[in-house]
Amino acid sequence: MTTFPMRRQRPLDPPDEFGVLREQGSLHRMTYPDGHEGWLVTSHAVARAILADNRFSNRTELQHQAIPARAKTVERVKERMPDSGPQPGMFLRMDAPEHTRFRKLLTGQFTVRRMKALEPRIAEITEGRLDAMTPPADLVSEFALPIPSLVICELLGVPYEDRETFQRNSATLLALDLDPDVLIASYQELAAYLYRLIASKRARPDGALLSGLLDDLGDDELLGVAFLLLIAGHETTANMLGLGAFALLTNPDQLAIMRDDPSAVDNGVEELLRHLSIIHAGPIRAALEDVEIDGRLIKAGESVTISIPAANRDPGHFPSPDRLDLTRSTTGHLTFGHGIHQCLGQQLARIEMRIALPALLRRFPGLRLACAPAEVPMRSDMAIYGVHRLPVTW
Ligand code: HEM
Repeated sequence: MTTFPMRRQRPLDPPDEFGVLREQGSLHRMTYPDGHEGWLVTSHAVARAILADNRFSNRTELQHQAIPARAKTVERVKERMPDSGPQPGMFLRMDAPEHTRFRKLLTGQFTVRRMKALEPRIAEITEGRLDAMTPPADLVSEFALPIPSLVICELLGVPYEDRETFQRNSATLLALDLDPDVLIASYQELAAYLYRLIASKRARPDGALLSGLLDDLGDDELLGVAFLLLIAGHETTANMLGLGAFALLTNPDQLAIMRDDPSAVDNGVEELLRHLSIIHAGPIRAALEDVEIDGRLIKAGESVTISIPAANRDPGHFPSPDRLDLTRSTTGHLTFGHGIHQCLGQQLARIEMRIALPALLRRFPGLRLACAPAEVPMRSDMAIYGVHRLPVTW
């Protein structure tokens, strides 16, 4: 019986324990922090199969938390707010058909074509950030965080001047180990802010995404959607930019490919996504009925934690998986998930990375870390992995 491995031996690789487990099989019995006996998935094939299987639910209230710190926080929040149910509009946490209604409404807003139309503006935002940087700099606060924040604000219609409120509260809500009062206060502050914003859109609609949903969604539903898009829309890409830059700076041969070969950029970004797997603590699903997979019986009610970092380093799918190789085939990586919840914003995230990373490396060809790699503070304490800060100079 295993417990969820979180301790990494090296900052850019998942815990070695995942590899040891994978050699023993795809599905492992795992004791959850609340004593629940569920499962951990470490192979690519089974991870993909479960994510595509609607006999597994993504509803939080059916799931057990796998990470001890997060389990403790969630437990204590439940004690404080026993009557709080699922948030309307938080469609990541819904199953079909409820999920389908929201997803249909939003899919048209996130098409490849629509995202491509944002390219010139993303390039302009990136150039603006690069112009403002002087050495030494923290690449997270000066580059990785502001670019996706500005982009998601413009897309949704959220004033960027209000970033302090949503960046601070998003950061708090993603911490794994948190005082429940702080978490509740953070949630309430962000919700109050978004309610005010929704009221102002109802009074004066603009051409941005949130206003486009006013006719189809009630205020509570729109709040859930705005919450999800705002947090998912900037923290994820921000961490990929920060961690991606760290990975390139510590692998100079790969950095040179990203900087010097425009034809290698798209695949290089996919490889960074695969290799770094920033969603490192889940997703979790709960079995709605007994399901047999790979010779094991997952019983109704049991929680299954799917390790995306383990699946993305499965040698059965990716030869020499631990090597960062920007030219390899990355087909089938699970960094954006799979199935009905597969990331809605993946094209946007890709476009942002494809523009921002090469632009950074070309603007500052002498870019280097301003501290030892071991001194870079890693986000092992957050639901989305990455670097807290990345001191660089050039
Ligand atoms: C590198 C950046 C990103 C990564 C690695 C990432 C990863 C993921 C993953 C793994 C899921 C599925 C979770 C599950 O199955 O439980 C997901 C869902 C989602 N992501 Fe992303 N994401 C990224 C960027 C974005 C951006 C930029 C946006 C918004 C603009 C976004 C919005 C969403 C939404 C709304 C969902 C829920 C979809 C649904 O339930 O139908 N993500 N993301």
